[in-house]
Amino acid sequence: MAERPGLTAVRLTVKQIREKKGVEKIAVLTAYDYLFAGLVDQAGLDVVLVGDSLGMVLLGYESTVPVTMRDMMHHVKAASRGVKKALVVADMPFGSYDTPERALRNARRFMKEAGADAVKLEGGQAVRPQVEALVRAGIPVMGHLGLTPQSASQLGGYKVQGKTSAQAEEIFKDAVLLDKLGAFAIVLECVPAKLAGRITQEVCCPTIGIGAGAATDGQVLVLTDMLGFRGQVQPKFVRAYAELGKAAAKAFAQYRSDVVKGKFPSADESY
Ligand code: KIV
Repeated sequence: MAERPGLTAVRLTVKQIREKKGVEKIAVLTAYDYLFAGLVDQAGLDVVLVGDSLGMVLLGYESTVPVTMRDMMHHVKAASRGVKKALVVADMPFGSYDTPERALRNARRFMKEAGADAVKLEGGQAVRPQVEALVRAGIPVMGHLGLTPQSASQLGGYKVQGKTSAQAEEIFKDAVLLDKLGAFAIVLECVPAKLAGRITQEVCCPTIGIGAGAATDGQVLVLTDMLGFRGQVQPKFVRAYAELGKAAAKAFAQYRSDVVKGKFPSADESY
C-alpha cells in the first residue's frame, strides 16, 4: 500500500488489486454501512463491495431490480466512511447504466459524492459501450458475468450459468471482451469451476469468484450470508463463518424476557 505524506492511510488502488493476480488471492466481501464496512476493512480485506444485494438482504426486496441510485448512494456513502485501506466498489443498480451517458453520470456520482473508488456493472457485450465510456473517463470498472442477478429472470432464475458449451462460450467471450476493454477485475458468479479456471487463465485482470470454484484469483461472499444471517435459501457455495443470526435472535429473546421479568436494568445499570 502506498503511503502519502500527511495521510495516515491510503486505500488500495485498482493497480495494486490487478498486481495481485498470480501472486496472492484477493479477498472481497460485501458491506453496506459504516459499522460493517469498518470491521471488514480492519480485518484486512482487499475490496469492500457495496453490492446491490443490499436490496434483498437489507431492504426486503425479492430481487435486486427495485434498488435505486438513491438507495445505493446512501449505502455507498455510509460504507465508504468506514473504510481506510480497502478499495471501495459501488454496484451500479438496475437501470442506472442503460446508456453510456447514464452510466457515466451515475458512476461519477458514486466517485465524486459517495467516496467509491470503482464501480461494478453486470454484463459483457451488451454493456460494451458503457464499459468503454467509463474506462475512457478514468472510472475503474469491475465486470460481473455468469449469474447476473439483475437479469435473473431472463436467465431462468438464480441458477448456475455456463453449463452448456454454448453458454460457457458466451461467458468466456464476454470475459475476454471485458478484459480487453480495460475492466480491472471480473466477478464470476455461479459458473462451473472449470469454466472459471479457463477464464482466469485467459484474462489479464483478476477474476473474483462467487460459487465459481477455487481457481479464480479471488473470492467474494455476501456479508450477511457469511455471518450466518440465513435467508430462505442458502446457496451451496456459502460458508457461514459465524452464526450471528442465531446469536442475535437469542440476545433479543433474552432481553425481552429480562425486561418482562423486571431483571433489566439492575441497580448497577441504574443511576
Ligand atoms: O450485489 C452483490 O452483492 C454482488 C456480489 C454477489 C458479487 O454483486
